[in-house]
Amino acid sequence: MIDLRSDTVTKPSKAMLEAMFKAKVGDDVFEDDPTINLLQEKAAELLGKKEALFVPSGTMGNQICVRINTTLGDEVILEYGSHIFNYEAGSPATLSGVQIHPLNAEKGFLSIEQINSAIRPDNEHFARTKLVCLENTHNRAGGTVYPLERIEEISAFTKKNNFKLHLDGARLFNAVVASKTDVKEIVKHFDTVSVCLSKGLGTPIGSIIAGGDDFFYKARRVRKSFGGGMRQAGFLAAAGIFALENNIERLEQDHENARLLAEEINRVGGIEIDLENLQTNIVILDISKTKFNSNEEALAALEKEGILLVAFGIGKLRAVTHLDVSKKQIQIACEVIKNTFS
Ligand SMILES: Cc1ncc(COP(=O)(O)O)c(C=O)c1O
Repeated sequence: MIDLRSDTVTKPSKAMLEAMFKAKVGDDVFEDDPTINLLQEKAAELLGKKEALFVPSGTMGNQICVRINTTLGDEVILEYGSHIFNYEAGSPATLSGVQIHPLNAEKGFLSIEQINSAIRPDNEHFARTKLVCLENTHNRAGGTVYPLERIEEISAFTKKNNFKLHLDGARLFNAVVASKTDVKEIVKHFDTVSVCLSKGLGTPIGSIIAGGDDFFYKARRVRKSFGGGMRQAGFLAAAGIFALENNIERLEQDHENARLLAEEINRVGGIEIDLENLQTNIVILDISKTKFNSNEEALAALEKEGILLVAFGIGKLRAVTHLDVSKKQIQIACEVIKNTFS
């Protein structure tokens, strides 16, 4: 099987497993795990933030940040296709008691005009606008990279209005590599950031969240209340350290593989791919003009030939490249997809 459903399907490499096996561990609830402490220090330094915390998942990371940036009854502005709004089980409401104000934006990029028009007046009838969340890269928009100038504008705007700004950077390093930008230059504009280690970076589990003064204390407290306190999880943190040291630059290969796949299969049997929008490792196939009557039918036909993709809305499939698919496998996938759709 060539599994292109997500960059979360990777298995730890032998070298990563060896690093995990050698890890020194302790009870992290006592802050006694040296490998977790080291990962947190390294991540804070890499991201240019004062403090960082290791958390079990991207969802928990985002939700801890939503909680520490808001109070009950506040409103959070974000993009309509964002992960926090669509795929986190309604947690802003259930875990933080906040209301989401989603805005539809081309490529997933909010503008300050949009944010400005969504702000609620300071009046007892309205929820208080408190937090803006951006997603970079933007998954549903097809792995698009937020332009740095847009981030700068939004950050200046949120600061002026006294709102907090959070970055869901599940795939932040894909954005960094694709735009050849120093990660600190992006992250410095945000109060808090969440970065997944278990996507393109290839670890079995875990995310890093980071922020400024008192972040560690506040975030640890919320992580505990969400049931995310960990014990000898240094084995997992070792995978994170390995990933930060070895798996960032190589994301470029995933981007090249995504482009190869997209260019080869675009227009075959009616498949349509927005090549201009393709910037990182996510390829969205519009299959509404192909011979298949449904996503399920197309996915089943591909699976029979050894290729796994996922449905991504009506008439759309998603393919994601990652460190467990080689260029050779992408070439095979191209041939299979061409034959299946022709
Ligand atoms: C953009 C984005 N944010 C957050 C997450 C959540 O990560 P996790 O699956 O580790 O909870 C994902 C996962 O797919 C994602 O794509």
